[in-house]
Amino acid sequence: MTKFRLPGSFSDAASFEARLKEIDPSLGCDPEPLDASGPMGQSIEAGGLTLSNRFAIHPMEGWDGTSDGLPSEATLRRWHRFGLSGAALLWGGEAFAVVPEGRANPNQLHQGSSDAAGEGLKELMATLLVGRGEAGVGDRDFLPGLQLTHSGRWSRPTPDGPSPRVAYRHPVLDARVGVDSDDAVFTDEEVAALPQKYASAAVLASDAGFKFVDVKCCHGYLLHEFLSARSRPGPWGGDFEGRTRLFRETVAAIREAVPGLEVGVRLSVTDQFPFTAGADGVGEPDGLDGNLPYESAFGLDAADPFRPDFTEPFRFFALLEELGISLVNLTVGSPYYCPHAQRPAAFPPSDGYMSPSDPLESVAAHIAAVRACKKEFPGLLFVGSGYTYLQEWLPHVAQHEVREGHVDFVGLGRMVLSYPELPMDLLAGRPLRTKSICRTFSDCTTGPRNGMPSGCYPLDPHFRSLPEAKVIRAMRPKRR
Ligand SMILES: Cc1cc2nc3c(=O)[nH]c(=O)nc-3n(C[C@H](O)[C@H](O)[C@H](O)COP(=O)(O)O)c2cc1C
Ligand code: SF4
Repeated sequence: MTKFRLPGSFSDAASFEARLKEIDPSLGCDPEPLDASGPMGQSIEAGGLTLSNRFAIHPMEGWDGTSDGLPSEATLRRWHRFGLSGAALLWGGEAFAVVPEGRANPNQLHQGSSDAAGEGLKELMATLLVGRGEAGVGDRDFLPGLQLTHSGRWSRPTPDGPSPRVAYRHPVLDARVGVDSDDAVFTDEEVAALPQKYASAAVLASDAGFKFVDVKCCHGYLLHEFLSARSRPGPWGGDFEGRTRLFRETVAAIREAVPGLEVGVRLSVTDQFPFTAGADGVGEPDGLDGNLPYESAFGLDAADPFRPDFTEPFRFFALLEELGISLVNLTVGSPYYCPHAQRPAAFPPSDGYMSPSDPLESVAAHIAAVRACKKEFPGLLFVGSGYTYLQEWLPHVAQHEVREGHVDFVGLGRMVLSYPELPMDLLAGRPLRTKSICRTFSDCTTGPRNGMPSGCYPLDPHFRSLPEAKVIRAMRPKRR
């Protein structure tokens, strides 16, 4: 049983800060969040623009596109709300699969099934700008990007179940997705063809008005998995050079196809040994014995696979600098095998487990990782993740991190599903709407894990009124 105090139970910033300092004495929580005159309203140069605030919206898909990869009304609604946030950086919008078979779910946006994929992206951009117009921020000084993905091991393009394609055979995760032979491993010929798929998606993104594309290297998806493909023979595995080859070739193909388009990278900068629910429902490592040293991760100490090792991530950042890439969004682990680290939450999704530690420790790990990277690579622009669990203290901690120069942008994930106007409220000096603050119930993950669209079923009145809301609520594991 894990016992922890929820952020909402702290009565003031000082007592919350005291708890943070028990976890890591260097953490901080500003006493009072400021309006646009404060750190979160400080302008910053990014992507050739001067951006007027330090909020970014993280990519969040909704499992709600059409089966041929186009946005539905529900998708457009989400993007409208992303626009309402007024955040100066839209990091990715949501994962857009570069091939139909690389979808993580049958309703993921993608190219290759419909000739109208580019029109769909234009519609999303137009809707985003309507939201921004309503927020009073318009379309200037706004950096929107599209996240490009191949789901690799986590591909599930049809309702028939997983259809994994992997970079290498994995000692723990193969069993989770039914990989039992080398047939699922990408052949060298298949790998060589992938960069062109990213390039054609980048053309669509650029034509639709996106100013950058994110070559997604996180959360266990294909390009992230290649970064740890030490056991893969041939040109796309083995040493650091081989493991980053697919990424480098992808960037080169995008640059050749759309020379003016910026490229960014969302990276799982560290990882965790895969977790599973123990008999008491609390997460525990899934078969550590016999799997040490653990060589199947990027940015993780192989001898102690719960501790980051930034040696290779730092080499990766040096590579980004060489390639002229400065936009980096940092995240941790994967929602599939270590959700407590990737998406700190009070309540797990239906297929998850109770956090084995205070979720604040996971938030602290995100913050520490970003700080270490920013310190070593001050010229890169970093977006931090994992802030939503801070709840009412998010503005205070965000301001502290930006003010101290530990991070350039604070990314909002789940918080923007429940409360899209939070950045505008803060920047305008309005009090927070506490009833809209995401309480990390994880219903937005439970829905899709059970074949339903994502959304904030408990707090967003639109989703609360849907019949699915009750069904999902009943699936909530009890907090022990
Ligand atoms: C419903 C949902 C969909 C998500 N979709 C994506 C995605 O498409 N791409 C991605 O990189 N991360 C995705 N994420 C992860 C978020 O971008 C973010 O990293 C995570 O929620 C942690 O940030 P937070 O604490 O602010 O929520 C998703 C998260 C949720 C809850
Ligand atoms: S369902 Fe709503 S309250 Fe729950 S985690 Fe998702 S956004 Fe937050």
